[in-house]
Amino acid sequence: MSNPLYAQHYADHALHCRAAIIENVRLAESTYRVRLHCPAIAARILPGQFVMLKMTGGDDPLLGRPLALYDTVLDASGAAVAIDIVYLVVGKMTSRLAQVSAGGQVDLWGPLGNGFSPQPTRHLIMVAGGIGQTPFRALAQECLGNRRYGDPQREVPQVERVVLCYGARSEGLLADVEQFEEIGVDVKVSTEDGSRGHHGLVTEVLGKLLASDSQEARLVCCGPERMMEAVAGQAATAGVPCQVSLETPMACGIGICFSCVARVCDKNGQWDYKRTCVEGPVFDAEKIIW
Ligand SMILES: Cc1cc2nc3c(=O)[nH]c(=O)nc-3n(C[C@H](O)[C@H](O)[C@H](O)COP(=O)(O)OP(=O)(O)OC[C@H]3O[C@@H](n4cnc5c(N)ncnc54)[C@H](O)[C@@H]3O)c2cc1C
Ligand code: FES
Repeated sequence: MSNPLYAQHYADHALHCRAAIIENVRLAESTYRVRLHCPAIAARILPGQFVMLKMTGGDDPLLGRPLALYDTVLDASGAAVAIDIVYLVVGKMTSRLAQVSAGGQVDLWGPLGNGFSPQPTRHLIMVAGGIGQTPFRALAQECLGNRRYGDPQREVPQVERVVLCYGARSEGLLADVEQFEEIGVDVKVSTEDGSRGHHGLVTEVLGKLLASDSQEARLVCCGPERMMEAVAGQAATAGVPCQVSLETPMACGIGICFSCVARVCDKNGQWDYKRTCVEGPVFDAEKIIW
């Protein structure tokens, strides 16, 4: 591509669709899972990619909001026909979405962003803070060999062990812990108020895990920026490769507005602004300037 702003994961192949809500259920405090019937997007989306979502028939908020793929849903023949999104109610769009029942509609476009690339590893460590667990369900399914994603479906080297270090302020905010365990993930919970699991920060749980089993490990992380920065530091100290999925606010989601930029270094150590929506949201942690 001659245009220097062209990104490999540009929205050239994204689709727009109006999707029926199949279900919209509460998972935890202020946290819901919405299931959207959108076979064309479900068939091609990859773990770590996202969609932009907007309420149908309303102009407030005017712009769509980025939400990560939680998982795809298969029909009886094994074809992906729907996507699940897990969201925390924080503002206008998510408050409105939480009030819509099955049969309602939303507009969405995607798949967007680069997603997680398949990498051979023995031990995948996923570190989530707050609502940061959402990109990891499909990634775990794929790495454990339970499910395949993309069109054509991609091959991913299977991993021996998948751990989710999952930190929240309090037990009531933890969503789908048992569902992660059911698919084969070893979940290590921490809460800041001590109501479940380790009493303290998720980084303390990660520290113990890295001390006991960091050989051939790979880290992925999503959550509040300060947490991701701390995890990036722990990964560097332990010599474990780490990718972070950034949650910068986005206006267009397709590379045009530059509202989503992060400072990212190139291989010569020079930094430039990179658009999280088309050059991310997944970046090597060591390249981010926090
Ligand atoms: C790639 C990506 C994937 C994401 N995936 C998920 C996901 O899977 N699940 C999920 O829950 N979230 C996810 N997010 C975050 C989500 O997009 C945002 O939380 C989104 O802004 C919610 O939209 P909203 O309209 O409900 O909130 P907004 O109205 O956009 O508000 C967002 C935040 O800003 C604050 N705010 C809004 N207006 C003001 C104001 N005037 N003054 C001060 N503060 C204000 C709100 O209180 C809130 O904390 C993702 C983000 C990215 C970039
Ligand atoms: S959100 Fe517009 S360029 Fe990324």
